[in-house]
Amino acid sequence: MEKIFVQGGEKLYGTVKISGMKNSALPIIFSTILVKGESVLENIPIVSDVHNALSILSQMGATVKYEDLHTVRIKTENIDPNSLNMELISKMRASSYLMGTLLAVFGKVMMAYPGGCNFGQRPIDEHLKGFTKMGAKCKESDGYVEITTDKKLKNGKITLDKISVGATINMILASVLTEGKTIICNTAMEPHIDDTICFLNKCGANIKRVGNTIHIRGVDRLKGVRYSIFPDTIEALTYISCVGATKGVIELKNIRTEHLSSILPLFEYMGMDITDFGNDTLNIRSSIQLCGAHVRTAPYPGFPTDFHPQFSSLLCYTNGGGSVDETIFPGRFAYVNELKKMGGRVDKTNSQVFIMPSELIGTETCATDLRAGAALIVASLGAKGVSTVNNVGFILRGYEDIVGKLSSLGAIIKVI
Ligand code: EPZ
Repeated sequence: MEKIFVQGGEKLYGTVKISGMKNSALPIIFSTILVKGESVLENIPIVSDVHNALSILSQMGATVKYEDLHTVRIKTENIDPNSLNMELISKMRASSYLMGTLLAVFGKVMMAYPGGCNFGQRPIDEHLKGFTKMGAKCKESDGYVEITTDKKLKNGKITLDKISVGATINMILASVLTEGKTIICNTAMEPHIDDTICFLNKCGANIKRVGNTIHIRGVDRLKGVRYSIFPDTIEALTYISCVGATKGVIELKNIRTEHLSSILPLFEYMGMDITDFGNDTLNIRSSIQLCGAHVRTAPYPGFPTDFHPQFSSLLCYTNGGGSVDETIFPGRFAYVNELKKMGGRVDKTNSQVFIMPSELIGTETCATDLRAGAALIVASLGAKGVSTVNNVGFILRGYEDIVGKLSSLGAIIKVI
């Protein structure tokens, strides 16, 4: 298996172009199942999860053609809902979007449980409760889920018991072609949900968000359109933590600062200088030793759980350290032992991790999931000496060309 090699201690200078958001591209790719005619999706990130999602579609009979490296043309008129690649489905959480789309178009779906990063339980009960509310029958047995409806899905009011990105998106996917008005309450607010809503509305859907309630009026059909995916907020935050760990000055291009507006003040509080040049460009200067911070993860616009591990690595390099209280995925702490291997002074109690200022030394570590892998790269960039990060595949699931982008900023990093 490939490894990432990092010689720590280099400051970062230069410009990095943020790629399209993986967690938007995935629901939008699966949303094309609802669409008649060809969709052309731009700013698609080159990451393995996207490749897998496109493979699942093409194995169902969809036409999937790359127009260029970041643009893909998708037609799904003649797909067969029974020819699903269960192995790929069980590798990816985003496969859950096959439930809402196939149910809406075919009235049935039988698939392996969606997979995803292995940080503990990834239930789909909120999704299934919503489908049941819409009149579908859900059956789960030995790793498979079967959802059927012998009549049309029913409109109505769906209140999610938990704030769930996936369940919110799946309720939207199941409702856009359902006759009448559907109201979804207690929804998640992440930018990738609104990216999916923008795509579907451009295709002819009638979806309106009012705070954490989403109003949908069903339409008869959706037509294919050209659409550009929002930039990846978590990728942008990851590069900010990289320059925080190494010092330097970087420019982030192709971002939507409004999606970062609730978290940028945290970095300024810690001692970074952030200049918003407008037209999707941010300048980040990290020249002094940062002070630490205590954060708690929360649904958007709160501190994102997907930035928790990377932020913990950053805290190692701050004056005074800090803590992260993980309220969404209790199993997200596998990176802690790896940081300890590097000399990280890290204590974990219940849902909280306390980080003391640490002199990290380069060593051999192991990525255990996507963001844990990114955290080890952040830690290695600021560490003394040489690090290698194993299980690179986890990182390449969600970061386009992270090695090339960091090299262009002056990091000594390569895949071996
Ligand atoms: C999405 O996962 C993202 N994945 C995750 O990103 C991200 O961490 C998460 O949202 C939260 O922002 C994709 O978009 C592919 P949830 P999702 O449903 O939809 C519980 C990454 O690093 N829950 O918002 O699965 C759940 O256990 C990945 O890119 C239920 O109890 O997350 C969690 O505690 C990792 N029942 C909380 O809700 C359900 O039916 C939030 O989960 C669904 C969720």
